[in-house]
Amino acid sequence: MERIEGKTAFITGGARGIGLGIARAFAREGAKLILVDIDEAALKAARAELSERTSVETFALDVRDREAYARVADEAEARLGPVSILCNNAGVAGGAGVTHMTYAHWDWVMGINLNGVINGVQTFVPRMIKRKTAAHIVNTASGAGLVAGVGLLYNTSKFAVVGLSEALRGELEPFGIGVSVLCPGPVATSILQNTLAFPGRPQIALTPEEVEMSEKTNKLFSDYLSKGVPPDEVGRMVLAGVKANRLYILTDRVIGSFITARTKAILDAIPAGS
Ligand SMILES: NC(=O)c1ccc[n+]([C@@H]2O[C@H](COP(=O)([O-])OP(=O)(O)OC[C@H]3O[C@@H](n4cnc5c(N)ncnc54)[C@H](O)[C@@H]3O)[C@@H](O)[C@H]2O)c1
Repeated sequence: MERIEGKTAFITGGARGIGLGIARAFAREGAKLILVDIDEAALKAARAELSERTSVETFALDVRDREAYARVADEAEARLGPVSILCNNAGVAGGAGVTHMTYAHWDWVMGINLNGVINGVQTFVPRMIKRKTAAHIVNTASGAGLVAGVGLLYNTSKFAVVGLSEALRGELEPFGIGVSVLCPGPVATSILQNTLAFPGRPQIALTPEEVEMSEKTNKLFSDYLSKGVPPDEVGRMVLAGVKANRLYILTDRVIGSFITARTKAILDAIPAGS
């Protein structure tokens, strides 16, 4: 989709971090913005900032809530016109390790990181197909959707988003709808803090030693992310990816060698002579 000006973009998790970076990049190109998020204060701040540049509507929405999602989509399109750019970006970092996981942790992580994307696709793709106009979908996965090692639940959700996006791209191509999957490496956002503060996040009963270890790990992870790519730069990469209809949007080379090793292991597993 080369021309962004005047198009309406719907961005989940659009109030902070990467979603806000994407919103800023599209605003600079003259797109109208619909931002949804669970954090109403952050939505208010994003709206105040971005409405200096373009038309902005914001909605408090938990992407797990299918009925609310449909209502918000109707209301948003009534106000700003048909959505032709959908960014399924809302996500959380956590879950629980293999020794502490419960169904509640699986449901929570998969509910937001995978079902949130499915709900966006199911809400908007039928509308996009019916309208027969150019459209583009960006699903935020992660480098953790291409190689394992970040955490079982998070990896599972993000691998699923990569697979969903690859399949969706093939299915939507005949309709003139592009699909990209954003697989960032470390990005300097507050995802860890936002995840820990998420209302109703399933808790884990930890021993004092485990609490200490978990605090150390969180500090290391947080420091690591703070040195990552700035979210506004990721926004610019997403904009360029949408314009060029790129399937994969990666933000650095951090996982390059791991992708090579994984791909080699898969190719090596193919029986000789077949
Ligand atoms: N920061 C990184 O290093 C990094 C790396 C790879 C992938 N990602 C992915 O990028 C996406 C954005 O993450 P970020 O780093 O910008 O984090 P962030 O916490 O800064 O932004 C995420 C936003 O999503 C919102 N959100 C979370 N759950 C929601 C829900 N159920 N419904 C609606 N909104 C919800 C949050 O309130 C927040 O404003 C996520 O999918 C994340 O997994 C981030």
